[in-house]
Amino acid sequence: MKRIMKRMGALLLCCALLTAGFGAVPGTRAAAAGKKLIALTFDDGPGPYTDRLLDGLKAKGAHASFFTLGQRAELYPAQIKRIFSEGHQLCNHSYNHPQLTALSATEALNQVSATDRILNRLTGGSESHYLRAPYGSMGPALRSQLNCPEIYWSVDTLDWKYRDAGYVKNAVLDMAFDGAVVLMHDIHPTTVTGVLQALDTLKARGYEMVTVRELFRRRGVSISKGRMYYRCDSNGTDLGAAARPQVQFSPAAGGLRVTLTASAGAKIYYTLDGSDLGYGSRLYTGPFTVGSPCTLRAVAAYSLNGGRGPELSYGIHSIPASEATPGFDGTYLSFSGVPDGQVVAYTLDGSDPTWYGVPYTGPVALKPGTKVAFYTRGTGLKATPVRTLYYSPKGNLYADVSPEDWFCDPVDEAVSLGFLKGVGDFRFQPHGELTRGMAVSLLYRMSGETVSGARTNPFEDVRDGDYFADAVEWAYRRSIAAGVSEKAFAPGRPVTRQELCRLLVNALDTLSPSGWELSPEDSSLEETFTDWGQVDDWAKPHVAAAVDAGLLVGEKLDLFHPDGTATRAQGAAVLVRLDRLLKESAQSTDA
Ligand code: NI
Repeated sequence: MKRIMKRMGALLLCCALLTAGFGAVPGTRAAAAGKKLIALTFDDGPGPYTDRLLDGLKAKGAHASFFTLGQRAELYPAQIKRIFSEGHQLCNHSYNHPQLTALSATEALNQVSATDRILNRLTGGSESHYLRAPYGSMGPALRSQLNCPEIYWSVDTLDWKYRDAGYVKNAVLDMAFDGAVVLMHDIHPTTVTGVLQALDTLKARGYEMVTVRELFRRRGVSISKGRMYYRCDSNGTDLGAAARPQVQFSPAAGGLRVTLTASAGAKIYYTLDGSDLGYGSRLYTGPFTVGSPCTLRAVAAYSLNGGRGPELSYGIHSIPASEATPGFDGTYLSFSGVPDGQVVAYTLDGSDPTWYGVPYTGPVALKPGTKVAFYTRGTGLKATPVRTLYYSPKGNLYADVSPEDWFCDPVDEAVSLGFLKGVGDFRFQPHGELTRGMAVSLLYRMSGETVSGARTNPFEDVRDGDYFADAVEWAYRRSIAAGVSEKAFAPGRPVTRQELCRLLVNALDTLSPSGWELSPEDSSLEETFTDWGQVDDWAKPHVAAAVDAGLLVGEKLDLFHPDGTATRAQGAAVLVRLDRLLKESAQSTDA
């Protein structure tokens, strides 16, 4: 008894060490309990019943391992290819099933290597397939020369002996256990019928039918060449199966950009000509561009031979044409970024270029006041949306401002005066929200003043190098803007309409040669704006002065919306009015 306890102690210690070893793999124990896994294996084929077995396995979403004979593989090449491409594992069971121990070392090794060569020729691979020696009979001399693990079994159905489907079904169900490797033969029709009948019950009992390779990989157990394996019991680890790759499309120059993603650690193989996935497929290394309609097939795999997830198949029918990039040198408009075979068409009167467009062949001279409309088309490609450019009378080119827009003139004026700057690609984001940082920047540019010397403002959220840093410093020194608290300016926060009034009126007061009187609180505004009560007390004199000066008008005539925000276009419009007021006041002072 004592001795038994001691041995059990040693066993327990051993288990604990093993568990600690598995636990050391980071982030792999997410599915702690995991599924029950079972590896169904079929020897001595392929044969005339293999296709029926493959049909049944496919219908039930089950995978298996096939320990094939080289000689049979030569007779049934289509079945070998099917086993491989349908996600099962191709394994080696010698060339023609001799007792390997009865052969010379060279002859025995040839039995193994000849079968590897045949399987590799049929699949395009270059691997040493897992081996199961006929009769489980293998000598140490050969074993030491093997380049693969040996896989035997922990459940023997004796299907070859009792050729009865009901018997096979019951044998599988009675002896199944989590981690078992089950021995069968797909050269018997009774085996094929019996095992397929057992699949639903196995699934109902929580089993997932996996390849031998997946049984070990999912449990985090690495297996090595020249060693024998019979089963892989549950150890709390389940690394999970490879999932179907996810695909994302985005327009790109020359076609459609395809991005694939897969389970961690799995490689993605893909084809674009509809062909089966295998060793000849492309290995995904990053997003790629397709330029014409095609069929994308992709699979994520830990190994192409028995370690793949479900396949993605996607017909790419609609390839967008490439967006043209406009360029402008002050006189000539050009388009670039469109590949050969695609055409940019344009009009110079703003009409729809899909009907009236002229194909672009070289730089086009623009006259001020021209609205250009353009798009790209190509044979078999989906044309791009029509985009417009407006070359204003003041000589500015806009991609997002049109003569029909209410803000066209004030924005154009603000841009010409240098108050408003574009954000690149001829865009001015007129509908973009006006932030406190942008508002003081607009005022700063309008003032024409510059700040120098060490900064004096206390705002911790304004750092040197921020585009608004000088503007905030200027506004602080000139007492035009205050922070939202002692140490914060909140430059990224949208400016409210009442805050904007205070900024504008302070600027007017500071920048006018003779200052600007804050008008006494005008009680008539109470009648003008039904929401006057919502204006904060600190803002009332500024709002009244701003309205009085014509700087700001209500959104609707009867509402002021003190906490409403403003767009960049609205900011540009009030700045232009403010600038005009200041110029008028300077003139009246001169006079
Ligand atoms: Ni056999």
